[in-house]
Amino acid sequence: MIHRTKVRVASAALLLAFVAIAGSASAAAPVQVSVNVRANEPGPVINPNVYGQFAEHLGAGIYEGVWVGEKSSIANTNGYRNDVIKALKDLHVPVVRWPGGCFADEYHWRDGVGERSKRPVKVNTHWGGVAETNEFGTHEFMTFAEMIGTKVYISGNVGSGSPQEMADWMEYMTSNTVSTLANERRKNGREQPWEVQFFGIGNETWGCGGNMTPEYYANLFRQYATYVKAPRGHRPKIVASGGNDAGTDWVSVLTTNVHRDMDAISHHYYTTPTGVWAKKGNSTGFPEQEWISTLQHTMLIDGYIANNVKILDQNDSQGKVALYVDEWGTWYDPEPGREPGFLYQQNTLRDALVAGLNFNIFHRHAKRVQMTNIAQMVNVLQAMILTDGAKMALTPTYHVFQMYIPFQGAIFLPTDVTTPEYKLGKYTVESVNVSAARDTEGHIVLALVNLDPNREAVVSTAVTDAAVKSAVGRVLTAKAMDARNTVDAPEAVKPAPISAKKDGGKWVLRLPPKSVAVLRFQ
Ligand code: AHR
Repeated sequence: MIHRTKVRVASAALLLAFVAIAGSASAAAPVQVSVNVRANEPGPVINPNVYGQFAEHLGAGIYEGVWVGEKSSIANTNGYRNDVIKALKDLHVPVVRWPGGCFADEYHWRDGVGERSKRPVKVNTHWGGVAETNEFGTHEFMTFAEMIGTKVYISGNVGSGSPQEMADWMEYMTSNTVSTLANERRKNGREQPWEVQFFGIGNETWGCGGNMTPEYYANLFRQYATYVKAPRGHRPKIVASGGNDAGTDWVSVLTTNVHRDMDAISHHYYTTPTGVWAKKGNSTGFPEQEWISTLQHTMLIDGYIANNVKILDQNDSQGKVALYVDEWGTWYDPEPGREPGFLYQQNTLRDALVAGLNFNIFHRHAKRVQMTNIAQMVNVLQAMILTDGAKMALTPTYHVFQMYIPFQGAIFLPTDVTTPEYKLGKYTVESVNVSAARDTEGHIVLALVNLDPNREAVVSTAVTDAAVKSAVGRVLTAKAMDARNTVDAPEAVKPAPISAKKDGGKWVLRLPPKSVAVLRFQ
């Protein structure tokens, strides 16, 4: 095992001695944590695509969130809102998955090409039953991807589509010939073919994508994937629709006989405070019990990934098939007064910690987990950005994504961590969670999450690099567990500088309660 965490529980005697010294068992007493970065035992590269996004035709995720149209009074460039484009460029988004989600399996690409005013208006049956104007289609998405400088992950329609429809879409997007479809693309304004780096064969085919069994889908995957063609050297990585939560049967069935076309299998896991789908919990104003339960629930993904990776290692010992966690994040009850089908929710410091914990887990599984896509990019579920008319706020989750940029393409480094526990009621988690890597410039980076909302952590880190002169970075924290940014107070939660001091050969950092920090040693 390359990551070892020792949870140290203070004995009653020690605790009494501490109380005597401190005068009272103050909730503010710091916990002591030690970290050893095993810099000489490099692991796999953390694929930058681990920091991917997901944008679905859902609520204000696309319409308003990204696309407002050229005639909008909201500042835009050719219909794309300027504030959101800039924020996403600053985030170094490696890949965006589109157009769904559940929407993908009812999306017919032809509805979204050609003159905008003539495109058919459909009903978005999954998400609020609202009119889908198809104003934002293939050209609009591909242009958006070019504007923010990201790769694309197209989700194809298996549930209500056909192999022919899927094949045509690929030809339309990628053909460099004079075929009728390629010429139609040219007529619609795009001379050069686009590069499609990733293509998904359906989404959640166990549910909204067709209610299939893994066995039935495994055959459909082979059939559909056969016709997803692209010019030589431009074939996208093909992603099979997999399972969710604790499930392993999809990976198991899909890899009993690995098909040559399968590059990855998707897996989905959403975090709720209660773990009960019918009453998930609120995004704000929650008790401390829902703080800790959310953090404990989100960390379940570690075991879910490990169990699926075990099967992959057995059935695909060559390591050909990756695991893409192409939907993850928090999912709360709908906010009062909002359309439940739009999945709009506030985003707080708790979500920031959820993001940090998931990244630390994804890093540990970097060998197989080569892409993840948080759900979702703007205005939906655990969003990076929330908009309200012409105004926009960057969420605490956005800031964590930005703080973790040095981990994109970095080399994973194992750590030994000794940390106390943070407990409340039936929940127990480690106080501090850690991930380390060597970034693309050769510096060690260390991410630290203090899960305890009441106690500072004094973290002593041993780094073997003798040349290290400083350890500086940024920390995200706030007074309240549900601290958040709104369009009227967009800077309530934002990163601040932090540094560790050298003390007796260790780097000592005072990590505030309920915080995420990323340090760079150089
Ligand atoms: O992200 C919201 C929805 O959650 C997606 O459309 C679907 O794939 C999942 O169930």
